[in-house]
Amino acid sequence: MILRGDSMKQKQDLDVSLMDMVMCLSDAMDLISSTVNGHHQRVAYIAGKLAEELKIPKRKREHLILASALHDVGALSLQERLDTLNFELDVSDSLGLSKHAILGYQLIDEFEPFVEIAPLVLYHHVDWEKGAGSEFRGEQIPWESHILHLADRIDVLIKSEAGILGQVDRICAKIVEEAGNKFVPEIVEAFTGLAQKESFWFDITSPARIQLITNEFSRDKICLGLDGLYNLGKLFSQIIDFRSRFTAAHSSGVAASAEALANFIGMSEHKARKLKVAGYLHDLGKLAVPTEILEKPDKLTEAEFNIIKKHTYYTYHTLKRVKGLDEINIWASLHHERLDGEGYPFHYQQEELPLGSRIMAVADVFSAITEDRPYRRGMEKKKVLNILENMVQDGALDEDIVLTLNDNYEAIYCLRKYAQEQETSEYKSFLQDSLADNSQRKAEAK
Ligand SMILES: [Fe+2]
Ligand SMILES: [Fe+2]
Ligand SMILES: [Fe+2]
Repeated sequence: MILRGDSMKQKQDLDVSLMDMVMCLSDAMDLISSTVNGHHQRVAYIAGKLAEELKIPKRKREHLILASALHDVGALSLQERLDTLNFELDVSDSLGLSKHAILGYQLIDEFEPFVEIAPLVLYHHVDWEKGAGSEFRGEQIPWESHILHLADRIDVLIKSEAGILGQVDRICAKIVEEAGNKFVPEIVEAFTGLAQKESFWFDITSPARIQLITNEFSRDKICLGLDGLYNLGKLFSQIIDFRSRFTAAHSSGVAASAEALANFIGMSEHKARKLKVAGYLHDLGKLAVPTEILEKPDKLTEAEFNIIKKHTYYTYHTLKRVKGLDEINIWASLHHERLDGEGYPFHYQQEELPLGSRIMAVADVFSAITEDRPYRRGMEKKKVLNILENMVQDGALDEDIVLTLNDNYEAIYCLRKYAQEQETSEYKSFLQDSLADNSQRKAEAK
């Protein structure tokens, strides 16, 4: 069917590539520590090249690259840091499943386009020897997860402080030593072939590797419409928020409040839903903020607040790389700007702040002060409106939007509360399932 007029415009409006979104997420994940900086993308590139050498069909290769770009996503919600990348220490059963791989699987398996990708994440630390012939729930461990495993270990062997070509012999020797044991001999052979080429190593360590990945491996891109983007946005919000039990449902509250405000203000349903996606993504840059700061109930020091200020800057620059996401990015990233130009990080003036960004600013404050946190209850209506009105007087928030909130307070409050209750129960079952699933897997793995 040919779409014309508005519907065609709306469809094109949201032609967002899944690969671009995943690369943007891997970018944000790599902000967590300087040690992991670029890890996900280097692993994605190595895995893509190995898949090419091994003549893996295009679709499976794309799944492998997506899995590689996300593979340590479960480590974000663990107390332990990603700092060492040495997750072998985290292996928790005889098959070699590790906690962060199980958590990563749990998170991404919920998103329909990731159903084939999730098992690759689950098994990315399973040794060839242990995995050979093993089945889990009647299914073989996917072959591609062994490529991901090898790619991950190659990257861990690279020392960022030393020149890359001088390390090739050492890396190859270490990997070959484990062929037939940790790694599949055929995949190791593909690697040693690639390792002869200087360009392979220069590509891995090139700052332009995102472009290399998208140019070389994603020619027939998988595109997301509004519904796909909405579901992926929800997944992103869980990755952002599940790092801390204090704010595990924050983004879903902001998303629900922003959508409700947009509806009451009279935005189209399509725009209101886009604004909800922006709500899910608004704190993406918080992945760069240490959990100790996120969870500090007391007043932040100046140095800590300076770190917090980076989060919207990172949200903006990370989302900026995704084609087709410009409007959502602006709505998401400007939520700490103020009408008087005194917000952060861009100090935009009133006329530079579109309605969507102004709504997001109100939704963010409203959600933050009404939601319950483990160390305090959410505020009562009178106090909430008082704070918001003071912020209007002070030149921070848009008066009309706060009036809309005032006029429809009960309805918006209920939508926000319901969304956060749902999210909190998803968070609790995510943590419980992970533990339960882990012991079940131990019993079921042959
Ligand atoms: Fe890992
Ligand atoms: Fe890794
Ligand atoms: Fe924020």
